Amino acid sequence: MNRLTNKVAIVTGASSGIGRVTAKLFAAEGAKVVVGARRQVELESLVAEIKAAGGDAVAGAGDVRSEAYHKALVAAAIENYGKLDIAFNNAGTLGEAGPSTEVSEAGFSDTLAINLTASFLAAKHQIAEMIKHGGGSVVFTSTFVGYSFAFPGVAAYATSKSGLIGLTQALAAEYGPQNVRVNAILPGAVDTDMYREMNDTSDKQAFITNLHALKRVAAPEELARSVLYLASDDASFVTGTATLVDGGASITRT
Ligand SMILES: NC(=O)c1ccc[n+]([C@@H]2O[C@H](COP(=O)([O-])OP(=O)(O)OC[C@H]3O[C@@H](n4cnc5c(N)ncnc54)[C@H](OP(=O)(O)O)[C@@H]3O)[C@@H](O)[C@H]2O)c1
Repeated sequence: MNRLTNKVAIVTGASSGIGRVTAKLFAAEGAKVVVGARRQVELESLVAEIKAAGGDAVAGAGDVRSEAYHKALVAAAIENYGKLDIAFNNAGTLGEAGPSTEVSEAGFSDTLAINLTASFLAAKHQIAEMIKHGGGSVVFTSTFVGYSFAFPGVAAYATSKSGLIGLTQALAAEYGPQNVRVNAILPGAVDTDMYREMNDTSDKQAFITNLHALKRVAAPEELARSVLYLASDDASFVTGTATLVDGGASITRT
């Protein structure tokens, strides 16, 4: 408890799944949280849940493809809480899937815009604020797909998410001297809306489950705890990493 006392955090993709659970955990650990996504109603109910549990949060709805939106989330952190220490840039989409010979230029570009360019734009404004107050911690949500695992039909997703690892390393090297840590978390399969949409039959779910050494997929809470570690001072000497939280998928061949 209280691992984020006096910290101020932004969490994107907070309307559902990993982001929602992580925002609640951050708040339970003492952080004041600015939560973002497009779905305003879901964000407001999250804020209400956090406040009912004794925490503090504000919602800022918008689309991560907009640079102005990232400025607005940072401004919300400053106006409401006076600083920014932590950013969990987690909003993401599967994007256009299917045989790569049939993927459209627009679909490919949009997937990169949401998963990769948006993360850069977020970090650009977040880090500028963090360095005014002695540093901070940025965590991006990448994935095992395109890193330790390849699946057919998800080239745009894999490209965008593996690009986040290069971004993580570049920013970690650039802003380490100013005490900004930057890490990527690489989940295996996590039981969220996105997972259920991608794996909509019991056969698909059994296939995915079997890829993991633990022979199950993760609960969002298991990712949230790992993000908490990277965000908190417990990880004070951890930067530039691609942190697999994948139930052993990367070492499983059975
Ligand atoms: N579930 C898995 O197995 C798995 C595995 C590896 C990595 N991931 C990654 O984990 C992250 C969270 O996904 P999840 O599994 O928790 O699924 P999810 O419940 O579908 O969450 C996706 C989140 O991203 C937000 N989002 C999507 N497009 C957005 C946009 N253009 N602007 C603003 N927000 C946007 C969504 O909010 P709105 O719809 O309200 O905008 C939602 O809050 C994603 O980056 C995903 O790629 C998931």
